[in-house]
Amino acid sequence: MTDEGAETVVRRDRFSGGPARGFMSSLAADERIFAADLAVDRAHVLMLAEQEIIDDDEAAEILGALDAVETAGHGALPDGEDVHEAIESAVIDRIGPVGGKMHTARSRNDEVAACLRYQLREDLLSAIEATIALRESLLETAAEHLDTTMPGYTHLQPAQPITVAHFLCSYEATIARDTARLRDAYDRTNQSPLGAAAFAGTPFDIDRERTAELLGFDGVMRNSMDAAAARDFLAEVTAALAAHATTLSGLAEDLIVYSNKGFLELSDAYSSTSSIMPQKKNPDTMELTRGVAGDAIGSVTGVLSTLKGLPRAYNRDLQRAHGHAFEAIDVVTEASAVAAGAVSTANWDSEALAAAAGEGFSTATGIADLLAMAGIPFRTAHELVAHAAEAAETQPEGVTAANLDAAAEAVLGESLFEHVTEAAIEEALDPAASVASRDSVGGPAPTAVDATIEAATADVDAHTAAVADRRSALETAADMLDTEVLDRV
Ligand code: ARG
Repeated sequence: MTDEGAETVVRRDRFSGGPARGFMSSLAADERIFAADLAVDRAHVLMLAEQEIIDDDEAAEILGALDAVETAGHGALPDGEDVHEAIESAVIDRIGPVGGKMHTARSRNDEVAACLRYQLREDLLSAIEATIALRESLLETAAEHLDTTMPGYTHLQPAQPITVAHFLCSYEATIARDTARLRDAYDRTNQSPLGAAAFAGTPFDIDRERTAELLGFDGVMRNSMDAAAARDFLAEVTAALAAHATTLSGLAEDLIVYSNKGFLELSDAYSSTSSIMPQKKNPDTMELTRGVAGDAIGSVTGVLSTLKGLPRAYNRDLQRAHGHAFEAIDVVTEASAVAAGAVSTANWDSEALAAAAGEGFSTATGIADLLAMAGIPFRTAHELVAHAAEAAETQPEGVTAANLDAAAEAVLGESLFEHVTEAAIEEALDPAASVASRDSVGGPAPTAVDATIEAATADVDAHTAAVADRRSALETAADMLDTEVLDRV
């Protein structure tokens, strides 16, 4: 350390000592934004030199010191309130007071906001990719089960027969919106707050567009006070993650229930056994996936309750807001990947599913529809079918055409076969035929699900391309930053 460097540190030590130092420091948690801070420092220093706010040789010295700080790693940083201060101290330790020029025309307030957005972009792209991979595994598995009839439930009671493909596509459709929400969050996150300084701008002739370009941001935030203070991007990211985790929890719950009913077996890689009961195979990965929704919902609550009522512009509370987002994005992305693996490797038992598909007179609605199609008012048809269901309650074979005919005599005062053929009734009582008949757009009929899969696949491809575009834009900017730095050191 040079003598001049020591002077700087002495000034910084004005508030040294006591338990409050550790309480205030975010240095350990800031490891997550160590690389981001180096990038933000480099872009800022390059811009300062280009704008002739600092000399080229000063910029070269600072950029060289930043390389050394990067090589030494986060663990080698000196003590500090946060990573921004510690990196600046490390630079000053290496090159003396000229290192202090790095902080010209900025503040830790715009700096931390830029670092958070910079880092969260990468994490968001990974999260979006995980949702896309899950959608692909749902669609691929669905394509194998277009004709696998299964019971569909409402209130967890058998309601109407569907297919495994229709069930899986129902989750794919929700997750498509989860993907879109995360992508929207990405686009609003990827805006540069850098150059806002503390919140009130700076008299230096900075070029905010240039630092935004060097860091791969799509644009600059137009109000400096908003740029430094706003953390709604954290609220948006955690809300999108919580929505996705909630979708995942429903999928996990269904898979748990279905494996309990013997409809499907999770692969061993996604199951666990009991430490005492050797016969057990438990759906632990799905239970954990279901549980992750708790973490994610906690993270939105954590972010919003930290932000609520904060006055403009910067308050230290903000330091406690972003940890929630980083924790949530890691665990939700992991849960999404696990769900994709569980779906791809699960074994559906078509026979058990087919046997259960007609349970609980699940074709009742189909019979009522058939009678309504023959001209009987739907409400009357509903009553007639309910009558037959009541009469058949104790019959092991369930509702038969004879039950329905007897009900018609009671409700209509004439035979059912005045309206429909016995063959049509027999067909409507068959779960597979019942599914095939419900071919309205979005319905469970194999033809309809096939069309759904086609449209969903096109949407997956569009999102895959959008993520690739964003990744390559970030890579292009990172390469540009590297090249500019290399030219100067
Ligand atoms: N570690 C701080 C944070 O995460 C950085 C900004 C500190 N700024 C300040 N004025 N104290 O929010």
